[in-house]
Amino acid sequence: MAIRSTELPTRNKGNPCTFALTHTTQTHKLMHRTLYTFFLIWGLLVIACSKPADSDQPADYSVSSKDENVSLTFLLDENQMPAYTVRFGEQLAIDTSYLGIQLQDSSKLTGPWKVIGQETTPHSSVWEPIWGEKQRIWDEYTQLVIHLQEDKEKGGLLDLVFRVFDDGIGFRYEFPEQEGLTDFVIMAEQTEFAMTGDHTAWWIPANYDSYEYLYTESPISGIDAAKYTIDTHVAAERIPYNKAAHTPLTLKAESGLHISIHEAALTDYASMTLRVKEGTNTFSSVLVPYSDGSCVKTSAPFKSPWRTIQLAEDAAGLLTSSLILNLNEPNAIQGDLSWIKPSKYMGIWWGMHIGENTWEAGEKHGATTEEAKRYMDFASENNIQAVLIEGWNVGWERWFGEERDSLFDFYTPYPDFNIQEVVAYGKEKGVEMVAHHETASIIFNYERHMDSAYQLLQNLGIHAVKSGYVGPIIPKGEFHHGQWMVRHYRKALETAAAHQVMLDVHEPIKPTGICRTYPNMMTREGVRGMEYNAWSEGNPPNHTTILPFTRGLAGPIDYTPGIFDVMISLEDKKDNRVYSTLANQLALYVTLYSPLQMAADLPRNYKDQPAFQFIRDVPTDWAETEVLNAEIGQYVSIARKAKEGDRWFIGSVTNEEAREFAIPLDFLTGLKEYKATLYEDGADADWETNPTSINIREAVVKKGDTLTIKLAKGGGFAAMLKAE
Ligand code: NOJ
Ligand code: CA
Repeated sequence: MAIRSTELPTRNKGNPCTFALTHTTQTHKLMHRTLYTFFLIWGLLVIACSKPADSDQPADYSVSSKDENVSLTFLLDENQMPAYTVRFGEQLAIDTSYLGIQLQDSSKLTGPWKVIGQETTPHSSVWEPIWGEKQRIWDEYTQLVIHLQEDKEKGGLLDLVFRVFDDGIGFRYEFPEQEGLTDFVIMAEQTEFAMTGDHTAWWIPANYDSYEYLYTESPISGIDAAKYTIDTHVAAERIPYNKAAHTPLTLKAESGLHISIHEAALTDYASMTLRVKEGTNTFSSVLVPYSDGSCVKTSAPFKSPWRTIQLAEDAAGLLTSSLILNLNEPNAIQGDLSWIKPSKYMGIWWGMHIGENTWEAGEKHGATTEEAKRYMDFASENNIQAVLIEGWNVGWERWFGEERDSLFDFYTPYPDFNIQEVVAYGKEKGVEMVAHHETASIIFNYERHMDSAYQLLQNLGIHAVKSGYVGPIIPKGEFHHGQWMVRHYRKALETAAAHQVMLDVHEPIKPTGICRTYPNMMTREGVRGMEYNAWSEGNPPNHTTILPFTRGLAGPIDYTPGIFDVMISLEDKKDNRVYSTLANQLALYVTLYSPLQMAADLPRNYKDQPAFQFIRDVPTDWAETEVLNAEIGQYVSIARKAKEGDRWFIGSVTNEEAREFAIPLDFLTGLKEYKATLYEDGADADWETNPTSINIREAVVKKGDTLTIKLAKGGGFAAMLKAE
């Protein structure tokens, strides 16, 4: 498979639509008044400044979350340098951690600092995403703004803004308009996250070009990409620091406290990675640089992305947090949004990864008009709303060649693919085509064609595209995760929105909640997905028990679940398989959230399979989400309520261990009965020896009942509960 054979550069060379809720009912008005009074009092209570503004003594300022469980203290140390600590209940979650920014002009914004003002404000609002894991999201925090000025003549200005939520904190740097700071360049950010012990971490290497790794579980002291022995097959690799990790970086303290560090609203800045400070349990931010070594090019006034720290007393608590979405701006897409549709899709795709088809035209060409129609027939008969077509456009014959500068064309279909005919056929069948733009990371080429490429989609009535960025970025020296590419991904997203196109980005920048502002940013890869099972040593069963707590905390994942031919029954695929049971594949539709969710296997593998009914039924947009149980790297069980109909879906997955769970059905409503269709691992199921053994049965259940579920090794459980 050519993707894996892409030459790897050597490592270590140096260095949803939102709107403010308008309550109409009396109850809601009353609730609002009560909340208002409450917050007034809360606001007065949380302000706890300990020192006056102009004091040359160390100063500290503390604020607490609404429930007072999370508190943040900002301080200037004896050298007048800024730092913060965070408490979660009785425990110290984040020890003294310094803050700072290093500009190219090294005379600026270095400190020492004094506090010249501060404001504390409580906030409470609720908003509704167009699509998501829940229908309503409360945004409640206490904000502390610290205005700093360098303690010297004509000292520069810097603001630090902290938001303290019940489930963690967010903070960012703000550069006010000021004399002597117009255009400026950030060379480094010196933000620290000091852990209180050598916590267990689930981490992937801080590769400036990829997130496609298996997670390693180790103490902080064990974070070391050089010890990472698995051949990762990533197509672009640049790992300057072995003892560094990508975010979300999730950690568990001995006390059981769960911590996840990430960022929100990465819109025009470099991605933050986290490097372990030698011999400590402290992480320092390392920004992904430009080819010239600088990290961020900007001008004042300017706001950095939010640095986020999610806190929860258990693994389940991490999954229900909306902190990252809350730290993003509301929907920016004006007008009609009906083209933004969460949906399921199939694709002319897996066939290429298992080698049965090719992207380029020829005998095995996947994207022919006839094949596309066959997929559309199948999709329309099976409640699947879209079909992805990869390999429809010319250029793929040069894709695996030496010459990576060769150009893809985003308009010209291969002669055996009639795009107009396919789109029209889909319309008749109620199935949309998802187009594909593989940029091959040749960014100038893509940007040159971008407007017309998206215009073509709009003219054809295509509302979704999967884009891809395989291989090192051209221009050479830029990285997938630097500001240069963040700007490109943003440009592509805005162009897509202007042409009413939803995006599914592969080899993306990590999600940071941008989908709140641009709800056409549906899903993305940025994960070692299903395709690795087709052509590498694959993803072991525990992979999907780690993903919801790491990559999944950042936003939707296009993992592409639903492979029924788990053993990949092709002559030349004897070494490749999917490392799970069939029931596990079904459960992933619930445990790995994505508003565009693929049914990734070939139609022939779904045909006459009773288990396929679950994929027909499962939606991709949810009114409510409840985490039933969870332990990172071991198991996770989630129940989600569909937006339409009184229907609940349960998904549960385990790692290599078999398990039995008692699931109380407390989330169901009222006294009514629900008809449950249960998809369980067969009694003899085992991911290694008998992966497709599945037992499908029906039961009648109601609130208060307890469901006993059994998961085989590498197994899973899925269910639909529908009110009678
Ligand atoms: C890598 C993507 O992850 C995969 O889904 C796609 O098929 C290939 N690139 C080709 O673009
Ligand atoms: Ca990929």
